[in-house]
Amino acid sequence: MKQIQQRTLIAEEQIQNAFRRGRKFIEVKPGTIVTAQAQDTAARLKIKLLENPPERAAVVRTSGSTATRRVLYRNNPSWEPPSRPVARKRQTIEKLVLIGVGGVGANLAHLAANASIANEICLIDVLPGAAEAVALDLQHASGITRSGTMLSGSTSLKSIAQAQVVVVTAGRPRTPGMDRSDLSQINGRIIRTIGESIADLASDSVVITVTNPVEEMTKLMLQTTGFPRKRVIGMAGTLDSARFRQSIASAAEVAVTDVQAITLGSHGDEMVPLASRALIQERPILEFLSESAIESCRAETVQGGASVVNLRKTGSATLAPAHATLEILEYMTGARVGIVPVSVQLSGEYGLDSMVIGVPCRLSMSGVYEIVELKLEAEELAFLQKAARAVRTRMEANWHGFNERLERRKIREDRLLQQSETRGTFCLCGRYDSHRKKRETACTAWYLCPELVYFRENPRVSAPSRCGVASCR
Ligand code: 2OP
Repeated sequence: MKQIQQRTLIAEEQIQNAFRRGRKFIEVKPGTIVTAQAQDTAARLKIKLLENPPERAAVVRTSGSTATRRVLYRNNPSWEPPSRPVARKRQTIEKLVLIGVGGVGANLAHLAANASIANEICLIDVLPGAAEAVALDLQHASGITRSGTMLSGSTSLKSIAQAQVVVVTAGRPRTPGMDRSDLSQINGRIIRTIGESIADLASDSVVITVTNPVEEMTKLMLQTTGFPRKRVIGMAGTLDSARFRQSIASAAEVAVTDVQAITLGSHGDEMVPLASRALIQERPILEFLSESAIESCRAETVQGGASVVNLRKTGSATLAPAHATLEILEYMTGARVGIVPVSVQLSGEYGLDSMVIGVPCRLSMSGVYEIVELKLEAEELAFLQKAARAVRTRMEANWHGFNERLERRKIREDRLLQQSETRGTFCLCGRYDSHRKKRETACTAWYLCPELVYFRENPRVSAPSRCGVASCR
């Protein structure tokens, strides 16, 4: 019987997809047709079309003894599993808690329920009836949207319990003439109260801080919860990047889907829209826009939030921030895959330490699993570092007693405590009864209490014990 050979086609779209995935070549199997446009695009994007498949490296097979050694190594208490890579399969958040049901919170609840991002969404707001009303309203809408997400509303922070992801939008919005940093004191107090409840009631959750000023509030959230940095994320980069892309699309008169661009830095005047990396239809924006037009896009992006505030008069933007927060949740659950700019505490990346700033990251259900260090142009890197310094200066000015060295020590110790799984162990003198509740004394006890060191080496020991400090005997 005559065998029918299946002919495949390589079109421009495949070449662009390969380029987006960082591929340097595409295999062209016998019988495959490559369109002329695809050939042009491949030449332009420097993607080789290989007639013969390249040789592949042989699969390395390990001996039995290597496998045994690996198992023993993993059983060692000090072994830490590697961070999970990109979620290949889309996951669903078990319980999503949204604290603050103002414009951003309510819109986010709406979007998240329709996107079926979580099995349960719990809304919390201090204003009696506010969260309950939005939850009920969305339940009614589910008769049309057919969303199966369970919704509830409450005034009590106790409803945070068992949250897998907590999004905090609570706090005062800006009004005309205000800078985001003018909200630091008032919103900072709110964040601290919420942070303490999150640490107590949902100690394994990932927290996304949306409240302004985002970087300062993310830092306060990190300090208050004592969570590792990968579990406290600030939402700003997704919003600013969306504004930057929209501004470029409108200046170049192209569809916004053809624009790729991100912003880094802070959510304010020190924002760093990365014009050098922005692309329209995979080509540098300089091929489409003049330097001055790009500069206007930058300025429009930085002023985006203020423009909405000036029009609205009584508050700030709500819809774009809600979409931008949903985008983060989608990257976490694997509904979107790739690099996304979020605010996170740096630890040496981009030459910065102990500062929260917007950088490109990869996310998973357990938060940030990789901070991507792009090769920035010298000027852009300088701007990023300037932004970080500005955030720190504001932090020091607004939060007296904010001490960078103490902060660094706490973070180092937190990391040790986290690694050692000593949570829940305590000594009878009460110097360390839970590293969440007695944070200050826990740090002292770390040095004073030999038992804690013992616990660290024996993570399964969790019974109360004497710590060796005189007052404990
Ligand atoms: C904004 O830029 C609310 O900060 C937010 O619109």
